[in-house]
Amino acid sequence: MTKPFAGSCQQNQDPILNIIQPLLKDRQTVLEIGSGTGQHAVYFAGEMPHLHWQTSDRIENHHGINLWLEAAKNTNIYPPIALDVSHDAFPKQKFDAIFTANTLHIMSKDDVCSFFQSIATCIPPKGILFAYGPFNYNGEYTSDSNAQFDHWLKSRDIKSGIKDFEWINELAKAAGLKMVADYEMPANNRILYFHKQG
Ligand SMILES: C[S@@+](CC[C@H](N)C(=O)[O-])C[C@H]1O[C@@H](n2cnc3c(N)ncnc32)[C@H](O)[C@@H]1O
Repeated sequence: MTKPFAGSCQQNQDPILNIIQPLLKDRQTVLEIGSGTGQHAVYFAGEMPHLHWQTSDRIENHHGINLWLEAAKNTNIYPPIALDVSHDAFPKQKFDAIFTANTLHIMSKDDVCSFFQSIATCIPPKGILFAYGPFNYNGEYTSDSNAQFDHWLKSRDIKSGIKDFEWINELAKAAGLKMVADYEMPANNRILYFHKQG
C-alpha cells in the first residue's frame, strides 16, 4: 500500500509550524488527536526534534500513519494509539501539549464535548491545546468557501460541520482551559490556542 496523502497537510504545515514552533520550544510531549495520514506528525516531529510526538486516531487510519512513520524513521514519533474520542479511554499519561488539526468540524457536537472533557484530564496545569481548522463567529461563516464546505460536510454526515468559536470557547472554559490566542490562518482557518489553568 502506498502512503496516504493529504494535499491540505502539505499546504498548511508551514503556516501551522510558524505558529506552534515558538510556543512548543519549552515543551516535551505532544499528543495529536486525529493524526489522519500521519503527515503532520512526521513533519512537525522532524522540525521540532526536541519533542516526543504521540500520534493517535481511529483504528482505520493506523496503517497509513504507520507507513509514514516507517518511511520517516524519526525516533521522536510514536505509533498511533487507538483514540476515538466518542468511546476510547484517553491515555493515563499526561502530555505538555495537545495538537489537533481539521478534526472538530468532522466530529459531531457530542464528540467535541467528549474531546474537551477528556483532554482536560490529559494535560497538566499550564499544559496547552492547539486546535486548527475552520470556525464560525457570531453564527456566521467567515467565507463563502467555508459555507460551501460546511454544506458538503453535512451532506456526508449530518452530525458533522463547522463549529461555533463561542461554543468551543465555552466548552474549553468548562474544561479549565483559557483561550490565549486565536490566530488567523490561510484559507479561512484558525489556530485556537488554550492554556490549562493552574
Ligand atoms: C479531515 S481529517 C484530518 C486529519 C489530519 N489531522 C489532517 O489535518 O490532515 C479528520 C480526522 O479526524 C479524525 N476523527 C474524526 N472523528 C473522530 C473522533 N470521534 N475521535 C478521534 N478522531 C476523529 C478522523 O479519523 C480523521 O483522521
